[in-house]
Amino acid sequence: MSKEKLIIFDTTLRDGEQSPGASMTAEEKLRIAKALEKMKVDIIEAGFPISSEGDFVAVQGIARAVKDSVVCGLARATVLDIKRAGDALKDANASRIHTFLATSPLHMREKLKMTPDQVYDQAIKAVKLARNFTDNVEFSPEDAGRSDLDFLCRVIEAVIEAGATTINIPDTVGYNLPQQYGETIAQLIRRVPNSDKAVFSTHCHNDLGLAVANSLAGVMNGARQVECSINGLGERAGNAALEEIVMAVRTRQDILPCDVDLDATQIMTCSRLVSGITGFPVQPNKAIVGANAFAHESGIHQDGVLKSRETYEIMRAEDVGLSSNKLVLGKLSGRRAFKDRLETLNISIDSEEELNNAFKEFKSLADKKSEIFDEDIHALVSNFKMEATFAEAIKLISVKACFETGEVPQASVTLLFEENEQSAESEGGGLVDATFKAIEKIVSSDADLQLYSVSNVTKGTDSLGEVGVRLEKAGRIVNGQGSDTDIIIASAKAYINALNRLLNPGARVHPQVYSGI
Ligand code: KIV
Ligand code: ZN
Repeated sequence: MSKEKLIIFDTTLRDGEQSPGASMTAEEKLRIAKALEKMKVDIIEAGFPISSEGDFVAVQGIARAVKDSVVCGLARATVLDIKRAGDALKDANASRIHTFLATSPLHMREKLKMTPDQVYDQAIKAVKLARNFTDNVEFSPEDAGRSDLDFLCRVIEAVIEAGATTINIPDTVGYNLPQQYGETIAQLIRRVPNSDKAVFSTHCHNDLGLAVANSLAGVMNGARQVECSINGLGERAGNAALEEIVMAVRTRQDILPCDVDLDATQIMTCSRLVSGITGFPVQPNKAIVGANAFAHESGIHQDGVLKSRETYEIMRAEDVGLSSNKLVLGKLSGRRAFKDRLETLNISIDSEEELNNAFKEFKSLADKKSEIFDEDIHALVSNFKMEATFAEAIKLISVKACFETGEVPQASVTLLFEENEQSAESEGGGLVDATFKAIEKIVSSDADLQLYSVSNVTKGTDSLGEVGVRLEKAGRIVNGQGSDTDIIIASAKAYINALNRLLNPGARVHPQVYSGI
């Protein structure tokens, strides 16, 4: 007997984008949306159209381009928000409006300054209005995890009556424990008289590290949609990670009452793409997509796996898109092989000129590094696309960095800035520090460096090093990244990339900077 379907609702482009510094351009969001569509995600929450003109355009572009997944836009339970979402989605093949209103006593009293009866009325009006734009309407009682169950039942019954087809139960602040969250879903389905007219959904935040466990508890108790995001990206500690939900459901079919329709072999590509675009590195021990997730270090484990894979492996690396033969291209590979590989990796190249430029970068990498892996290609194209996305105010011309034991590290940098080639030198605590200080002598951004991270894209000392930099200025946070076989150059590229984002007047602001949210 075939199992019930579990709907995968991806919110990387909406809740994920609310992570500090994760704002993406419309082009970047579209690239991720296409990768999610290829992975067969059921619903893509593309953004929050009223939050900015940029996000409206991004949602509109995704609605026009995506054909196989439902495209969803978020809206508060207000007329303006819902009309704006409806407008952004109007060309979609299949659309959903997701409207939300807080129901917890704390949120109603302190944030909304509304009585429960007012919230009840406004939720009904919002759903009715949204139904004028699409018959696929989701309602979320925000902070449901801390709401009164009787009140939740009352609101949910009324919004289903008003036309909501999905009821999402957000544990907005990641406060619930799995048993408690599961019980909430069970009670709601049991007590709301018309609960059979809607799909119940989970939306769990990871503040206590329980987002995936809570979501699965919801599924065990009747939820048939999970809201999740690639790499667990999301507000604060993030959301339930899509890859963990999907692989838990697939791996534990002996226990889970439903199955997903997703192409899990696209997971690694999506993970790399999101990490590359947002500048959020994936921790090595992250489940499913971390560099160590399928690595066996101890002799006992290696011996066991060689004798029988199942001794220490509950999933196959190939199932999430990690091929055992990861060597794909080398110095002698031609343009055709490179293009084929880009297609296999779901990397879209927009013109012949872009392909030529990307191929040039590939050749120059192949000169420095004998083996080019899928990860290298992802990093190379992310770098390359990023440079193409912005009208770059600053371009790196050259870096020279000198270090000798016992001497003070020194760097000199030449940049193209304000249409002039400008050079500066600086000392620093180390070569990276000296390089950043030299760049600052030219640019004088006065930005605060909040985060600096380095990781190897593949193994070996000739691997591409990928550097992430987070800068903050006047409340605006941006992430930059750069990769190179030389870590100082990768660092300079990442710093300059972040500066270009900071100086780009057209860049999106963090969605919550929009007043009134
Ligand atoms: O966490 C939350 O409550 C949300 C809602 C908008 C669903 O993201
Ligand atoms: Zn959320």
